[in-house]
Amino acid sequence: NIHPIILSGGSGTRLWPLSRANYPKQLLPLVGKETMLQVTLGRAAGLENVQAPILVCNSEHRFLIQEQCEAINIKPEAIYLESIGRNTAPAIALAAFHLTQIDENALMLILPADHVIDDQDAFAQAVETAKIAAQEEYLVTFGITPSSPETGYGYIKTGDAIKFKAPPVLTAYRIQSFFEKPNLETATAYLQEGGYMWNSGMFVFTAKNYLQELQRHQPHIFTAVHQAWLERTTDLGFILPDKDAFTASPSDSIDYAIMQVTSRAAVVPAQFGWNDVGSWDSLWKIAPKNSDGNFISGDTLVLNTQKSYIRAENRLVTVIGLDDIIVIETADAVLVMHKSKTQQLKDAIQHLELNQ
Ligand code: GDD
Ligand code: MG
Repeated sequence: NIHPIILSGGSGTRLWPLSRANYPKQLLPLVGKETMLQVTLGRAAGLENVQAPILVCNSEHRFLIQEQCEAINIKPEAIYLESIGRNTAPAIALAAFHLTQIDENALMLILPADHVIDDQDAFAQAVETAKIAAQEEYLVTFGITPSSPETGYGYIKTGDAIKFKAPPVLTAYRIQSFFEKPNLETATAYLQEGGYMWNSGMFVFTAKNYLQELQRHQPHIFTAVHQAWLERTTDLGFILPDKDAFTASPSDSIDYAIMQVTSRAAVVPAQFGWNDVGSWDSLWKIAPKNSDGNFISGDTLVLNTQKSYIRAENRLVTVIGLDDIIVIETADAVLVMHKSKTQQLKDAIQHLELNQ
């Protein structure tokens, strides 16, 4: 038995201006007809021996999320609402405390709501292997073969293969070291050195092991979230952790707070295609493209242009003689950007927010 935990609290600023704080990317049909949240819920529901999912999200999105679950006939075990995001370590802790009511050894499968995976069978096989490692008290992630020195990912240095009494189909390895979001120089050196994988951001562990590691390495997060969970209230079927207690928690991601410091980390190399749709560049990579390598959507005129992503939502967009660019037109904002500079969009948004 495994409990999917769906993280849907991010605001997806690197997909601005389509993705907005009140309507973030995971709630948009960016890749197909279903939204990324719905695709993720469907992927989880397709696993064997799977329980109803627990969703942890921003309280502003509660009705959108509820509608999107209902539209595909998913009835969550619980929807936790954060009044203010404290990043993924506290969000996962809420779900872990919830599960300790059911079974402290409950297996959790942490899934960000915004990933694209192209082989369900290979994914299911990796999850089965991760479950076995998690039952041996490991905190397991899925590793992706790196293709470039991306600075937006965690880097995993693989250690020895783990020996099990009953070996799973795939091999799980100990993590020798984990480094979240290195700078370009470090990432380049890792790729040259070899033996590194990207952290996929999906995890498997027991509720008990996660909470033990949280208490050991991040006692302030543990205490604040525990308090917030104990003092929770419910409203229209949603679960609301106590606002003041939750706000008092330090804000940190599982990657920095746990994976970088725990000695119980393990990795299962992913044999499936994976894309975290974290930027316009990664969206271009998986989008259907014409013979010029362009993805084009909406009312457009595109001439002499290659390897670009052009999306018109409201008005006619004309692009002539430009390669490797991103053009996103929406009712109130237009983005024109070189495809190799997508990581800078986050800084630009921060600048916009500061100057509003
Ligand atoms: N509920 C909740 N609350 N969810 C959150 C919060 C929060 O405060 N913050 C982020 N999330 C959700 C996001 O919506 C996303 O689904 C997931 O948690 C991961 O957060 P990101 O902000 O997208 O993390 P990242 O992409 O910078 O880095 C992570 O993913 C990479 C792979 O995509 C890390 O795990 C990296 O190590 C990893 O390589
Ligand atoms: Mg991400």
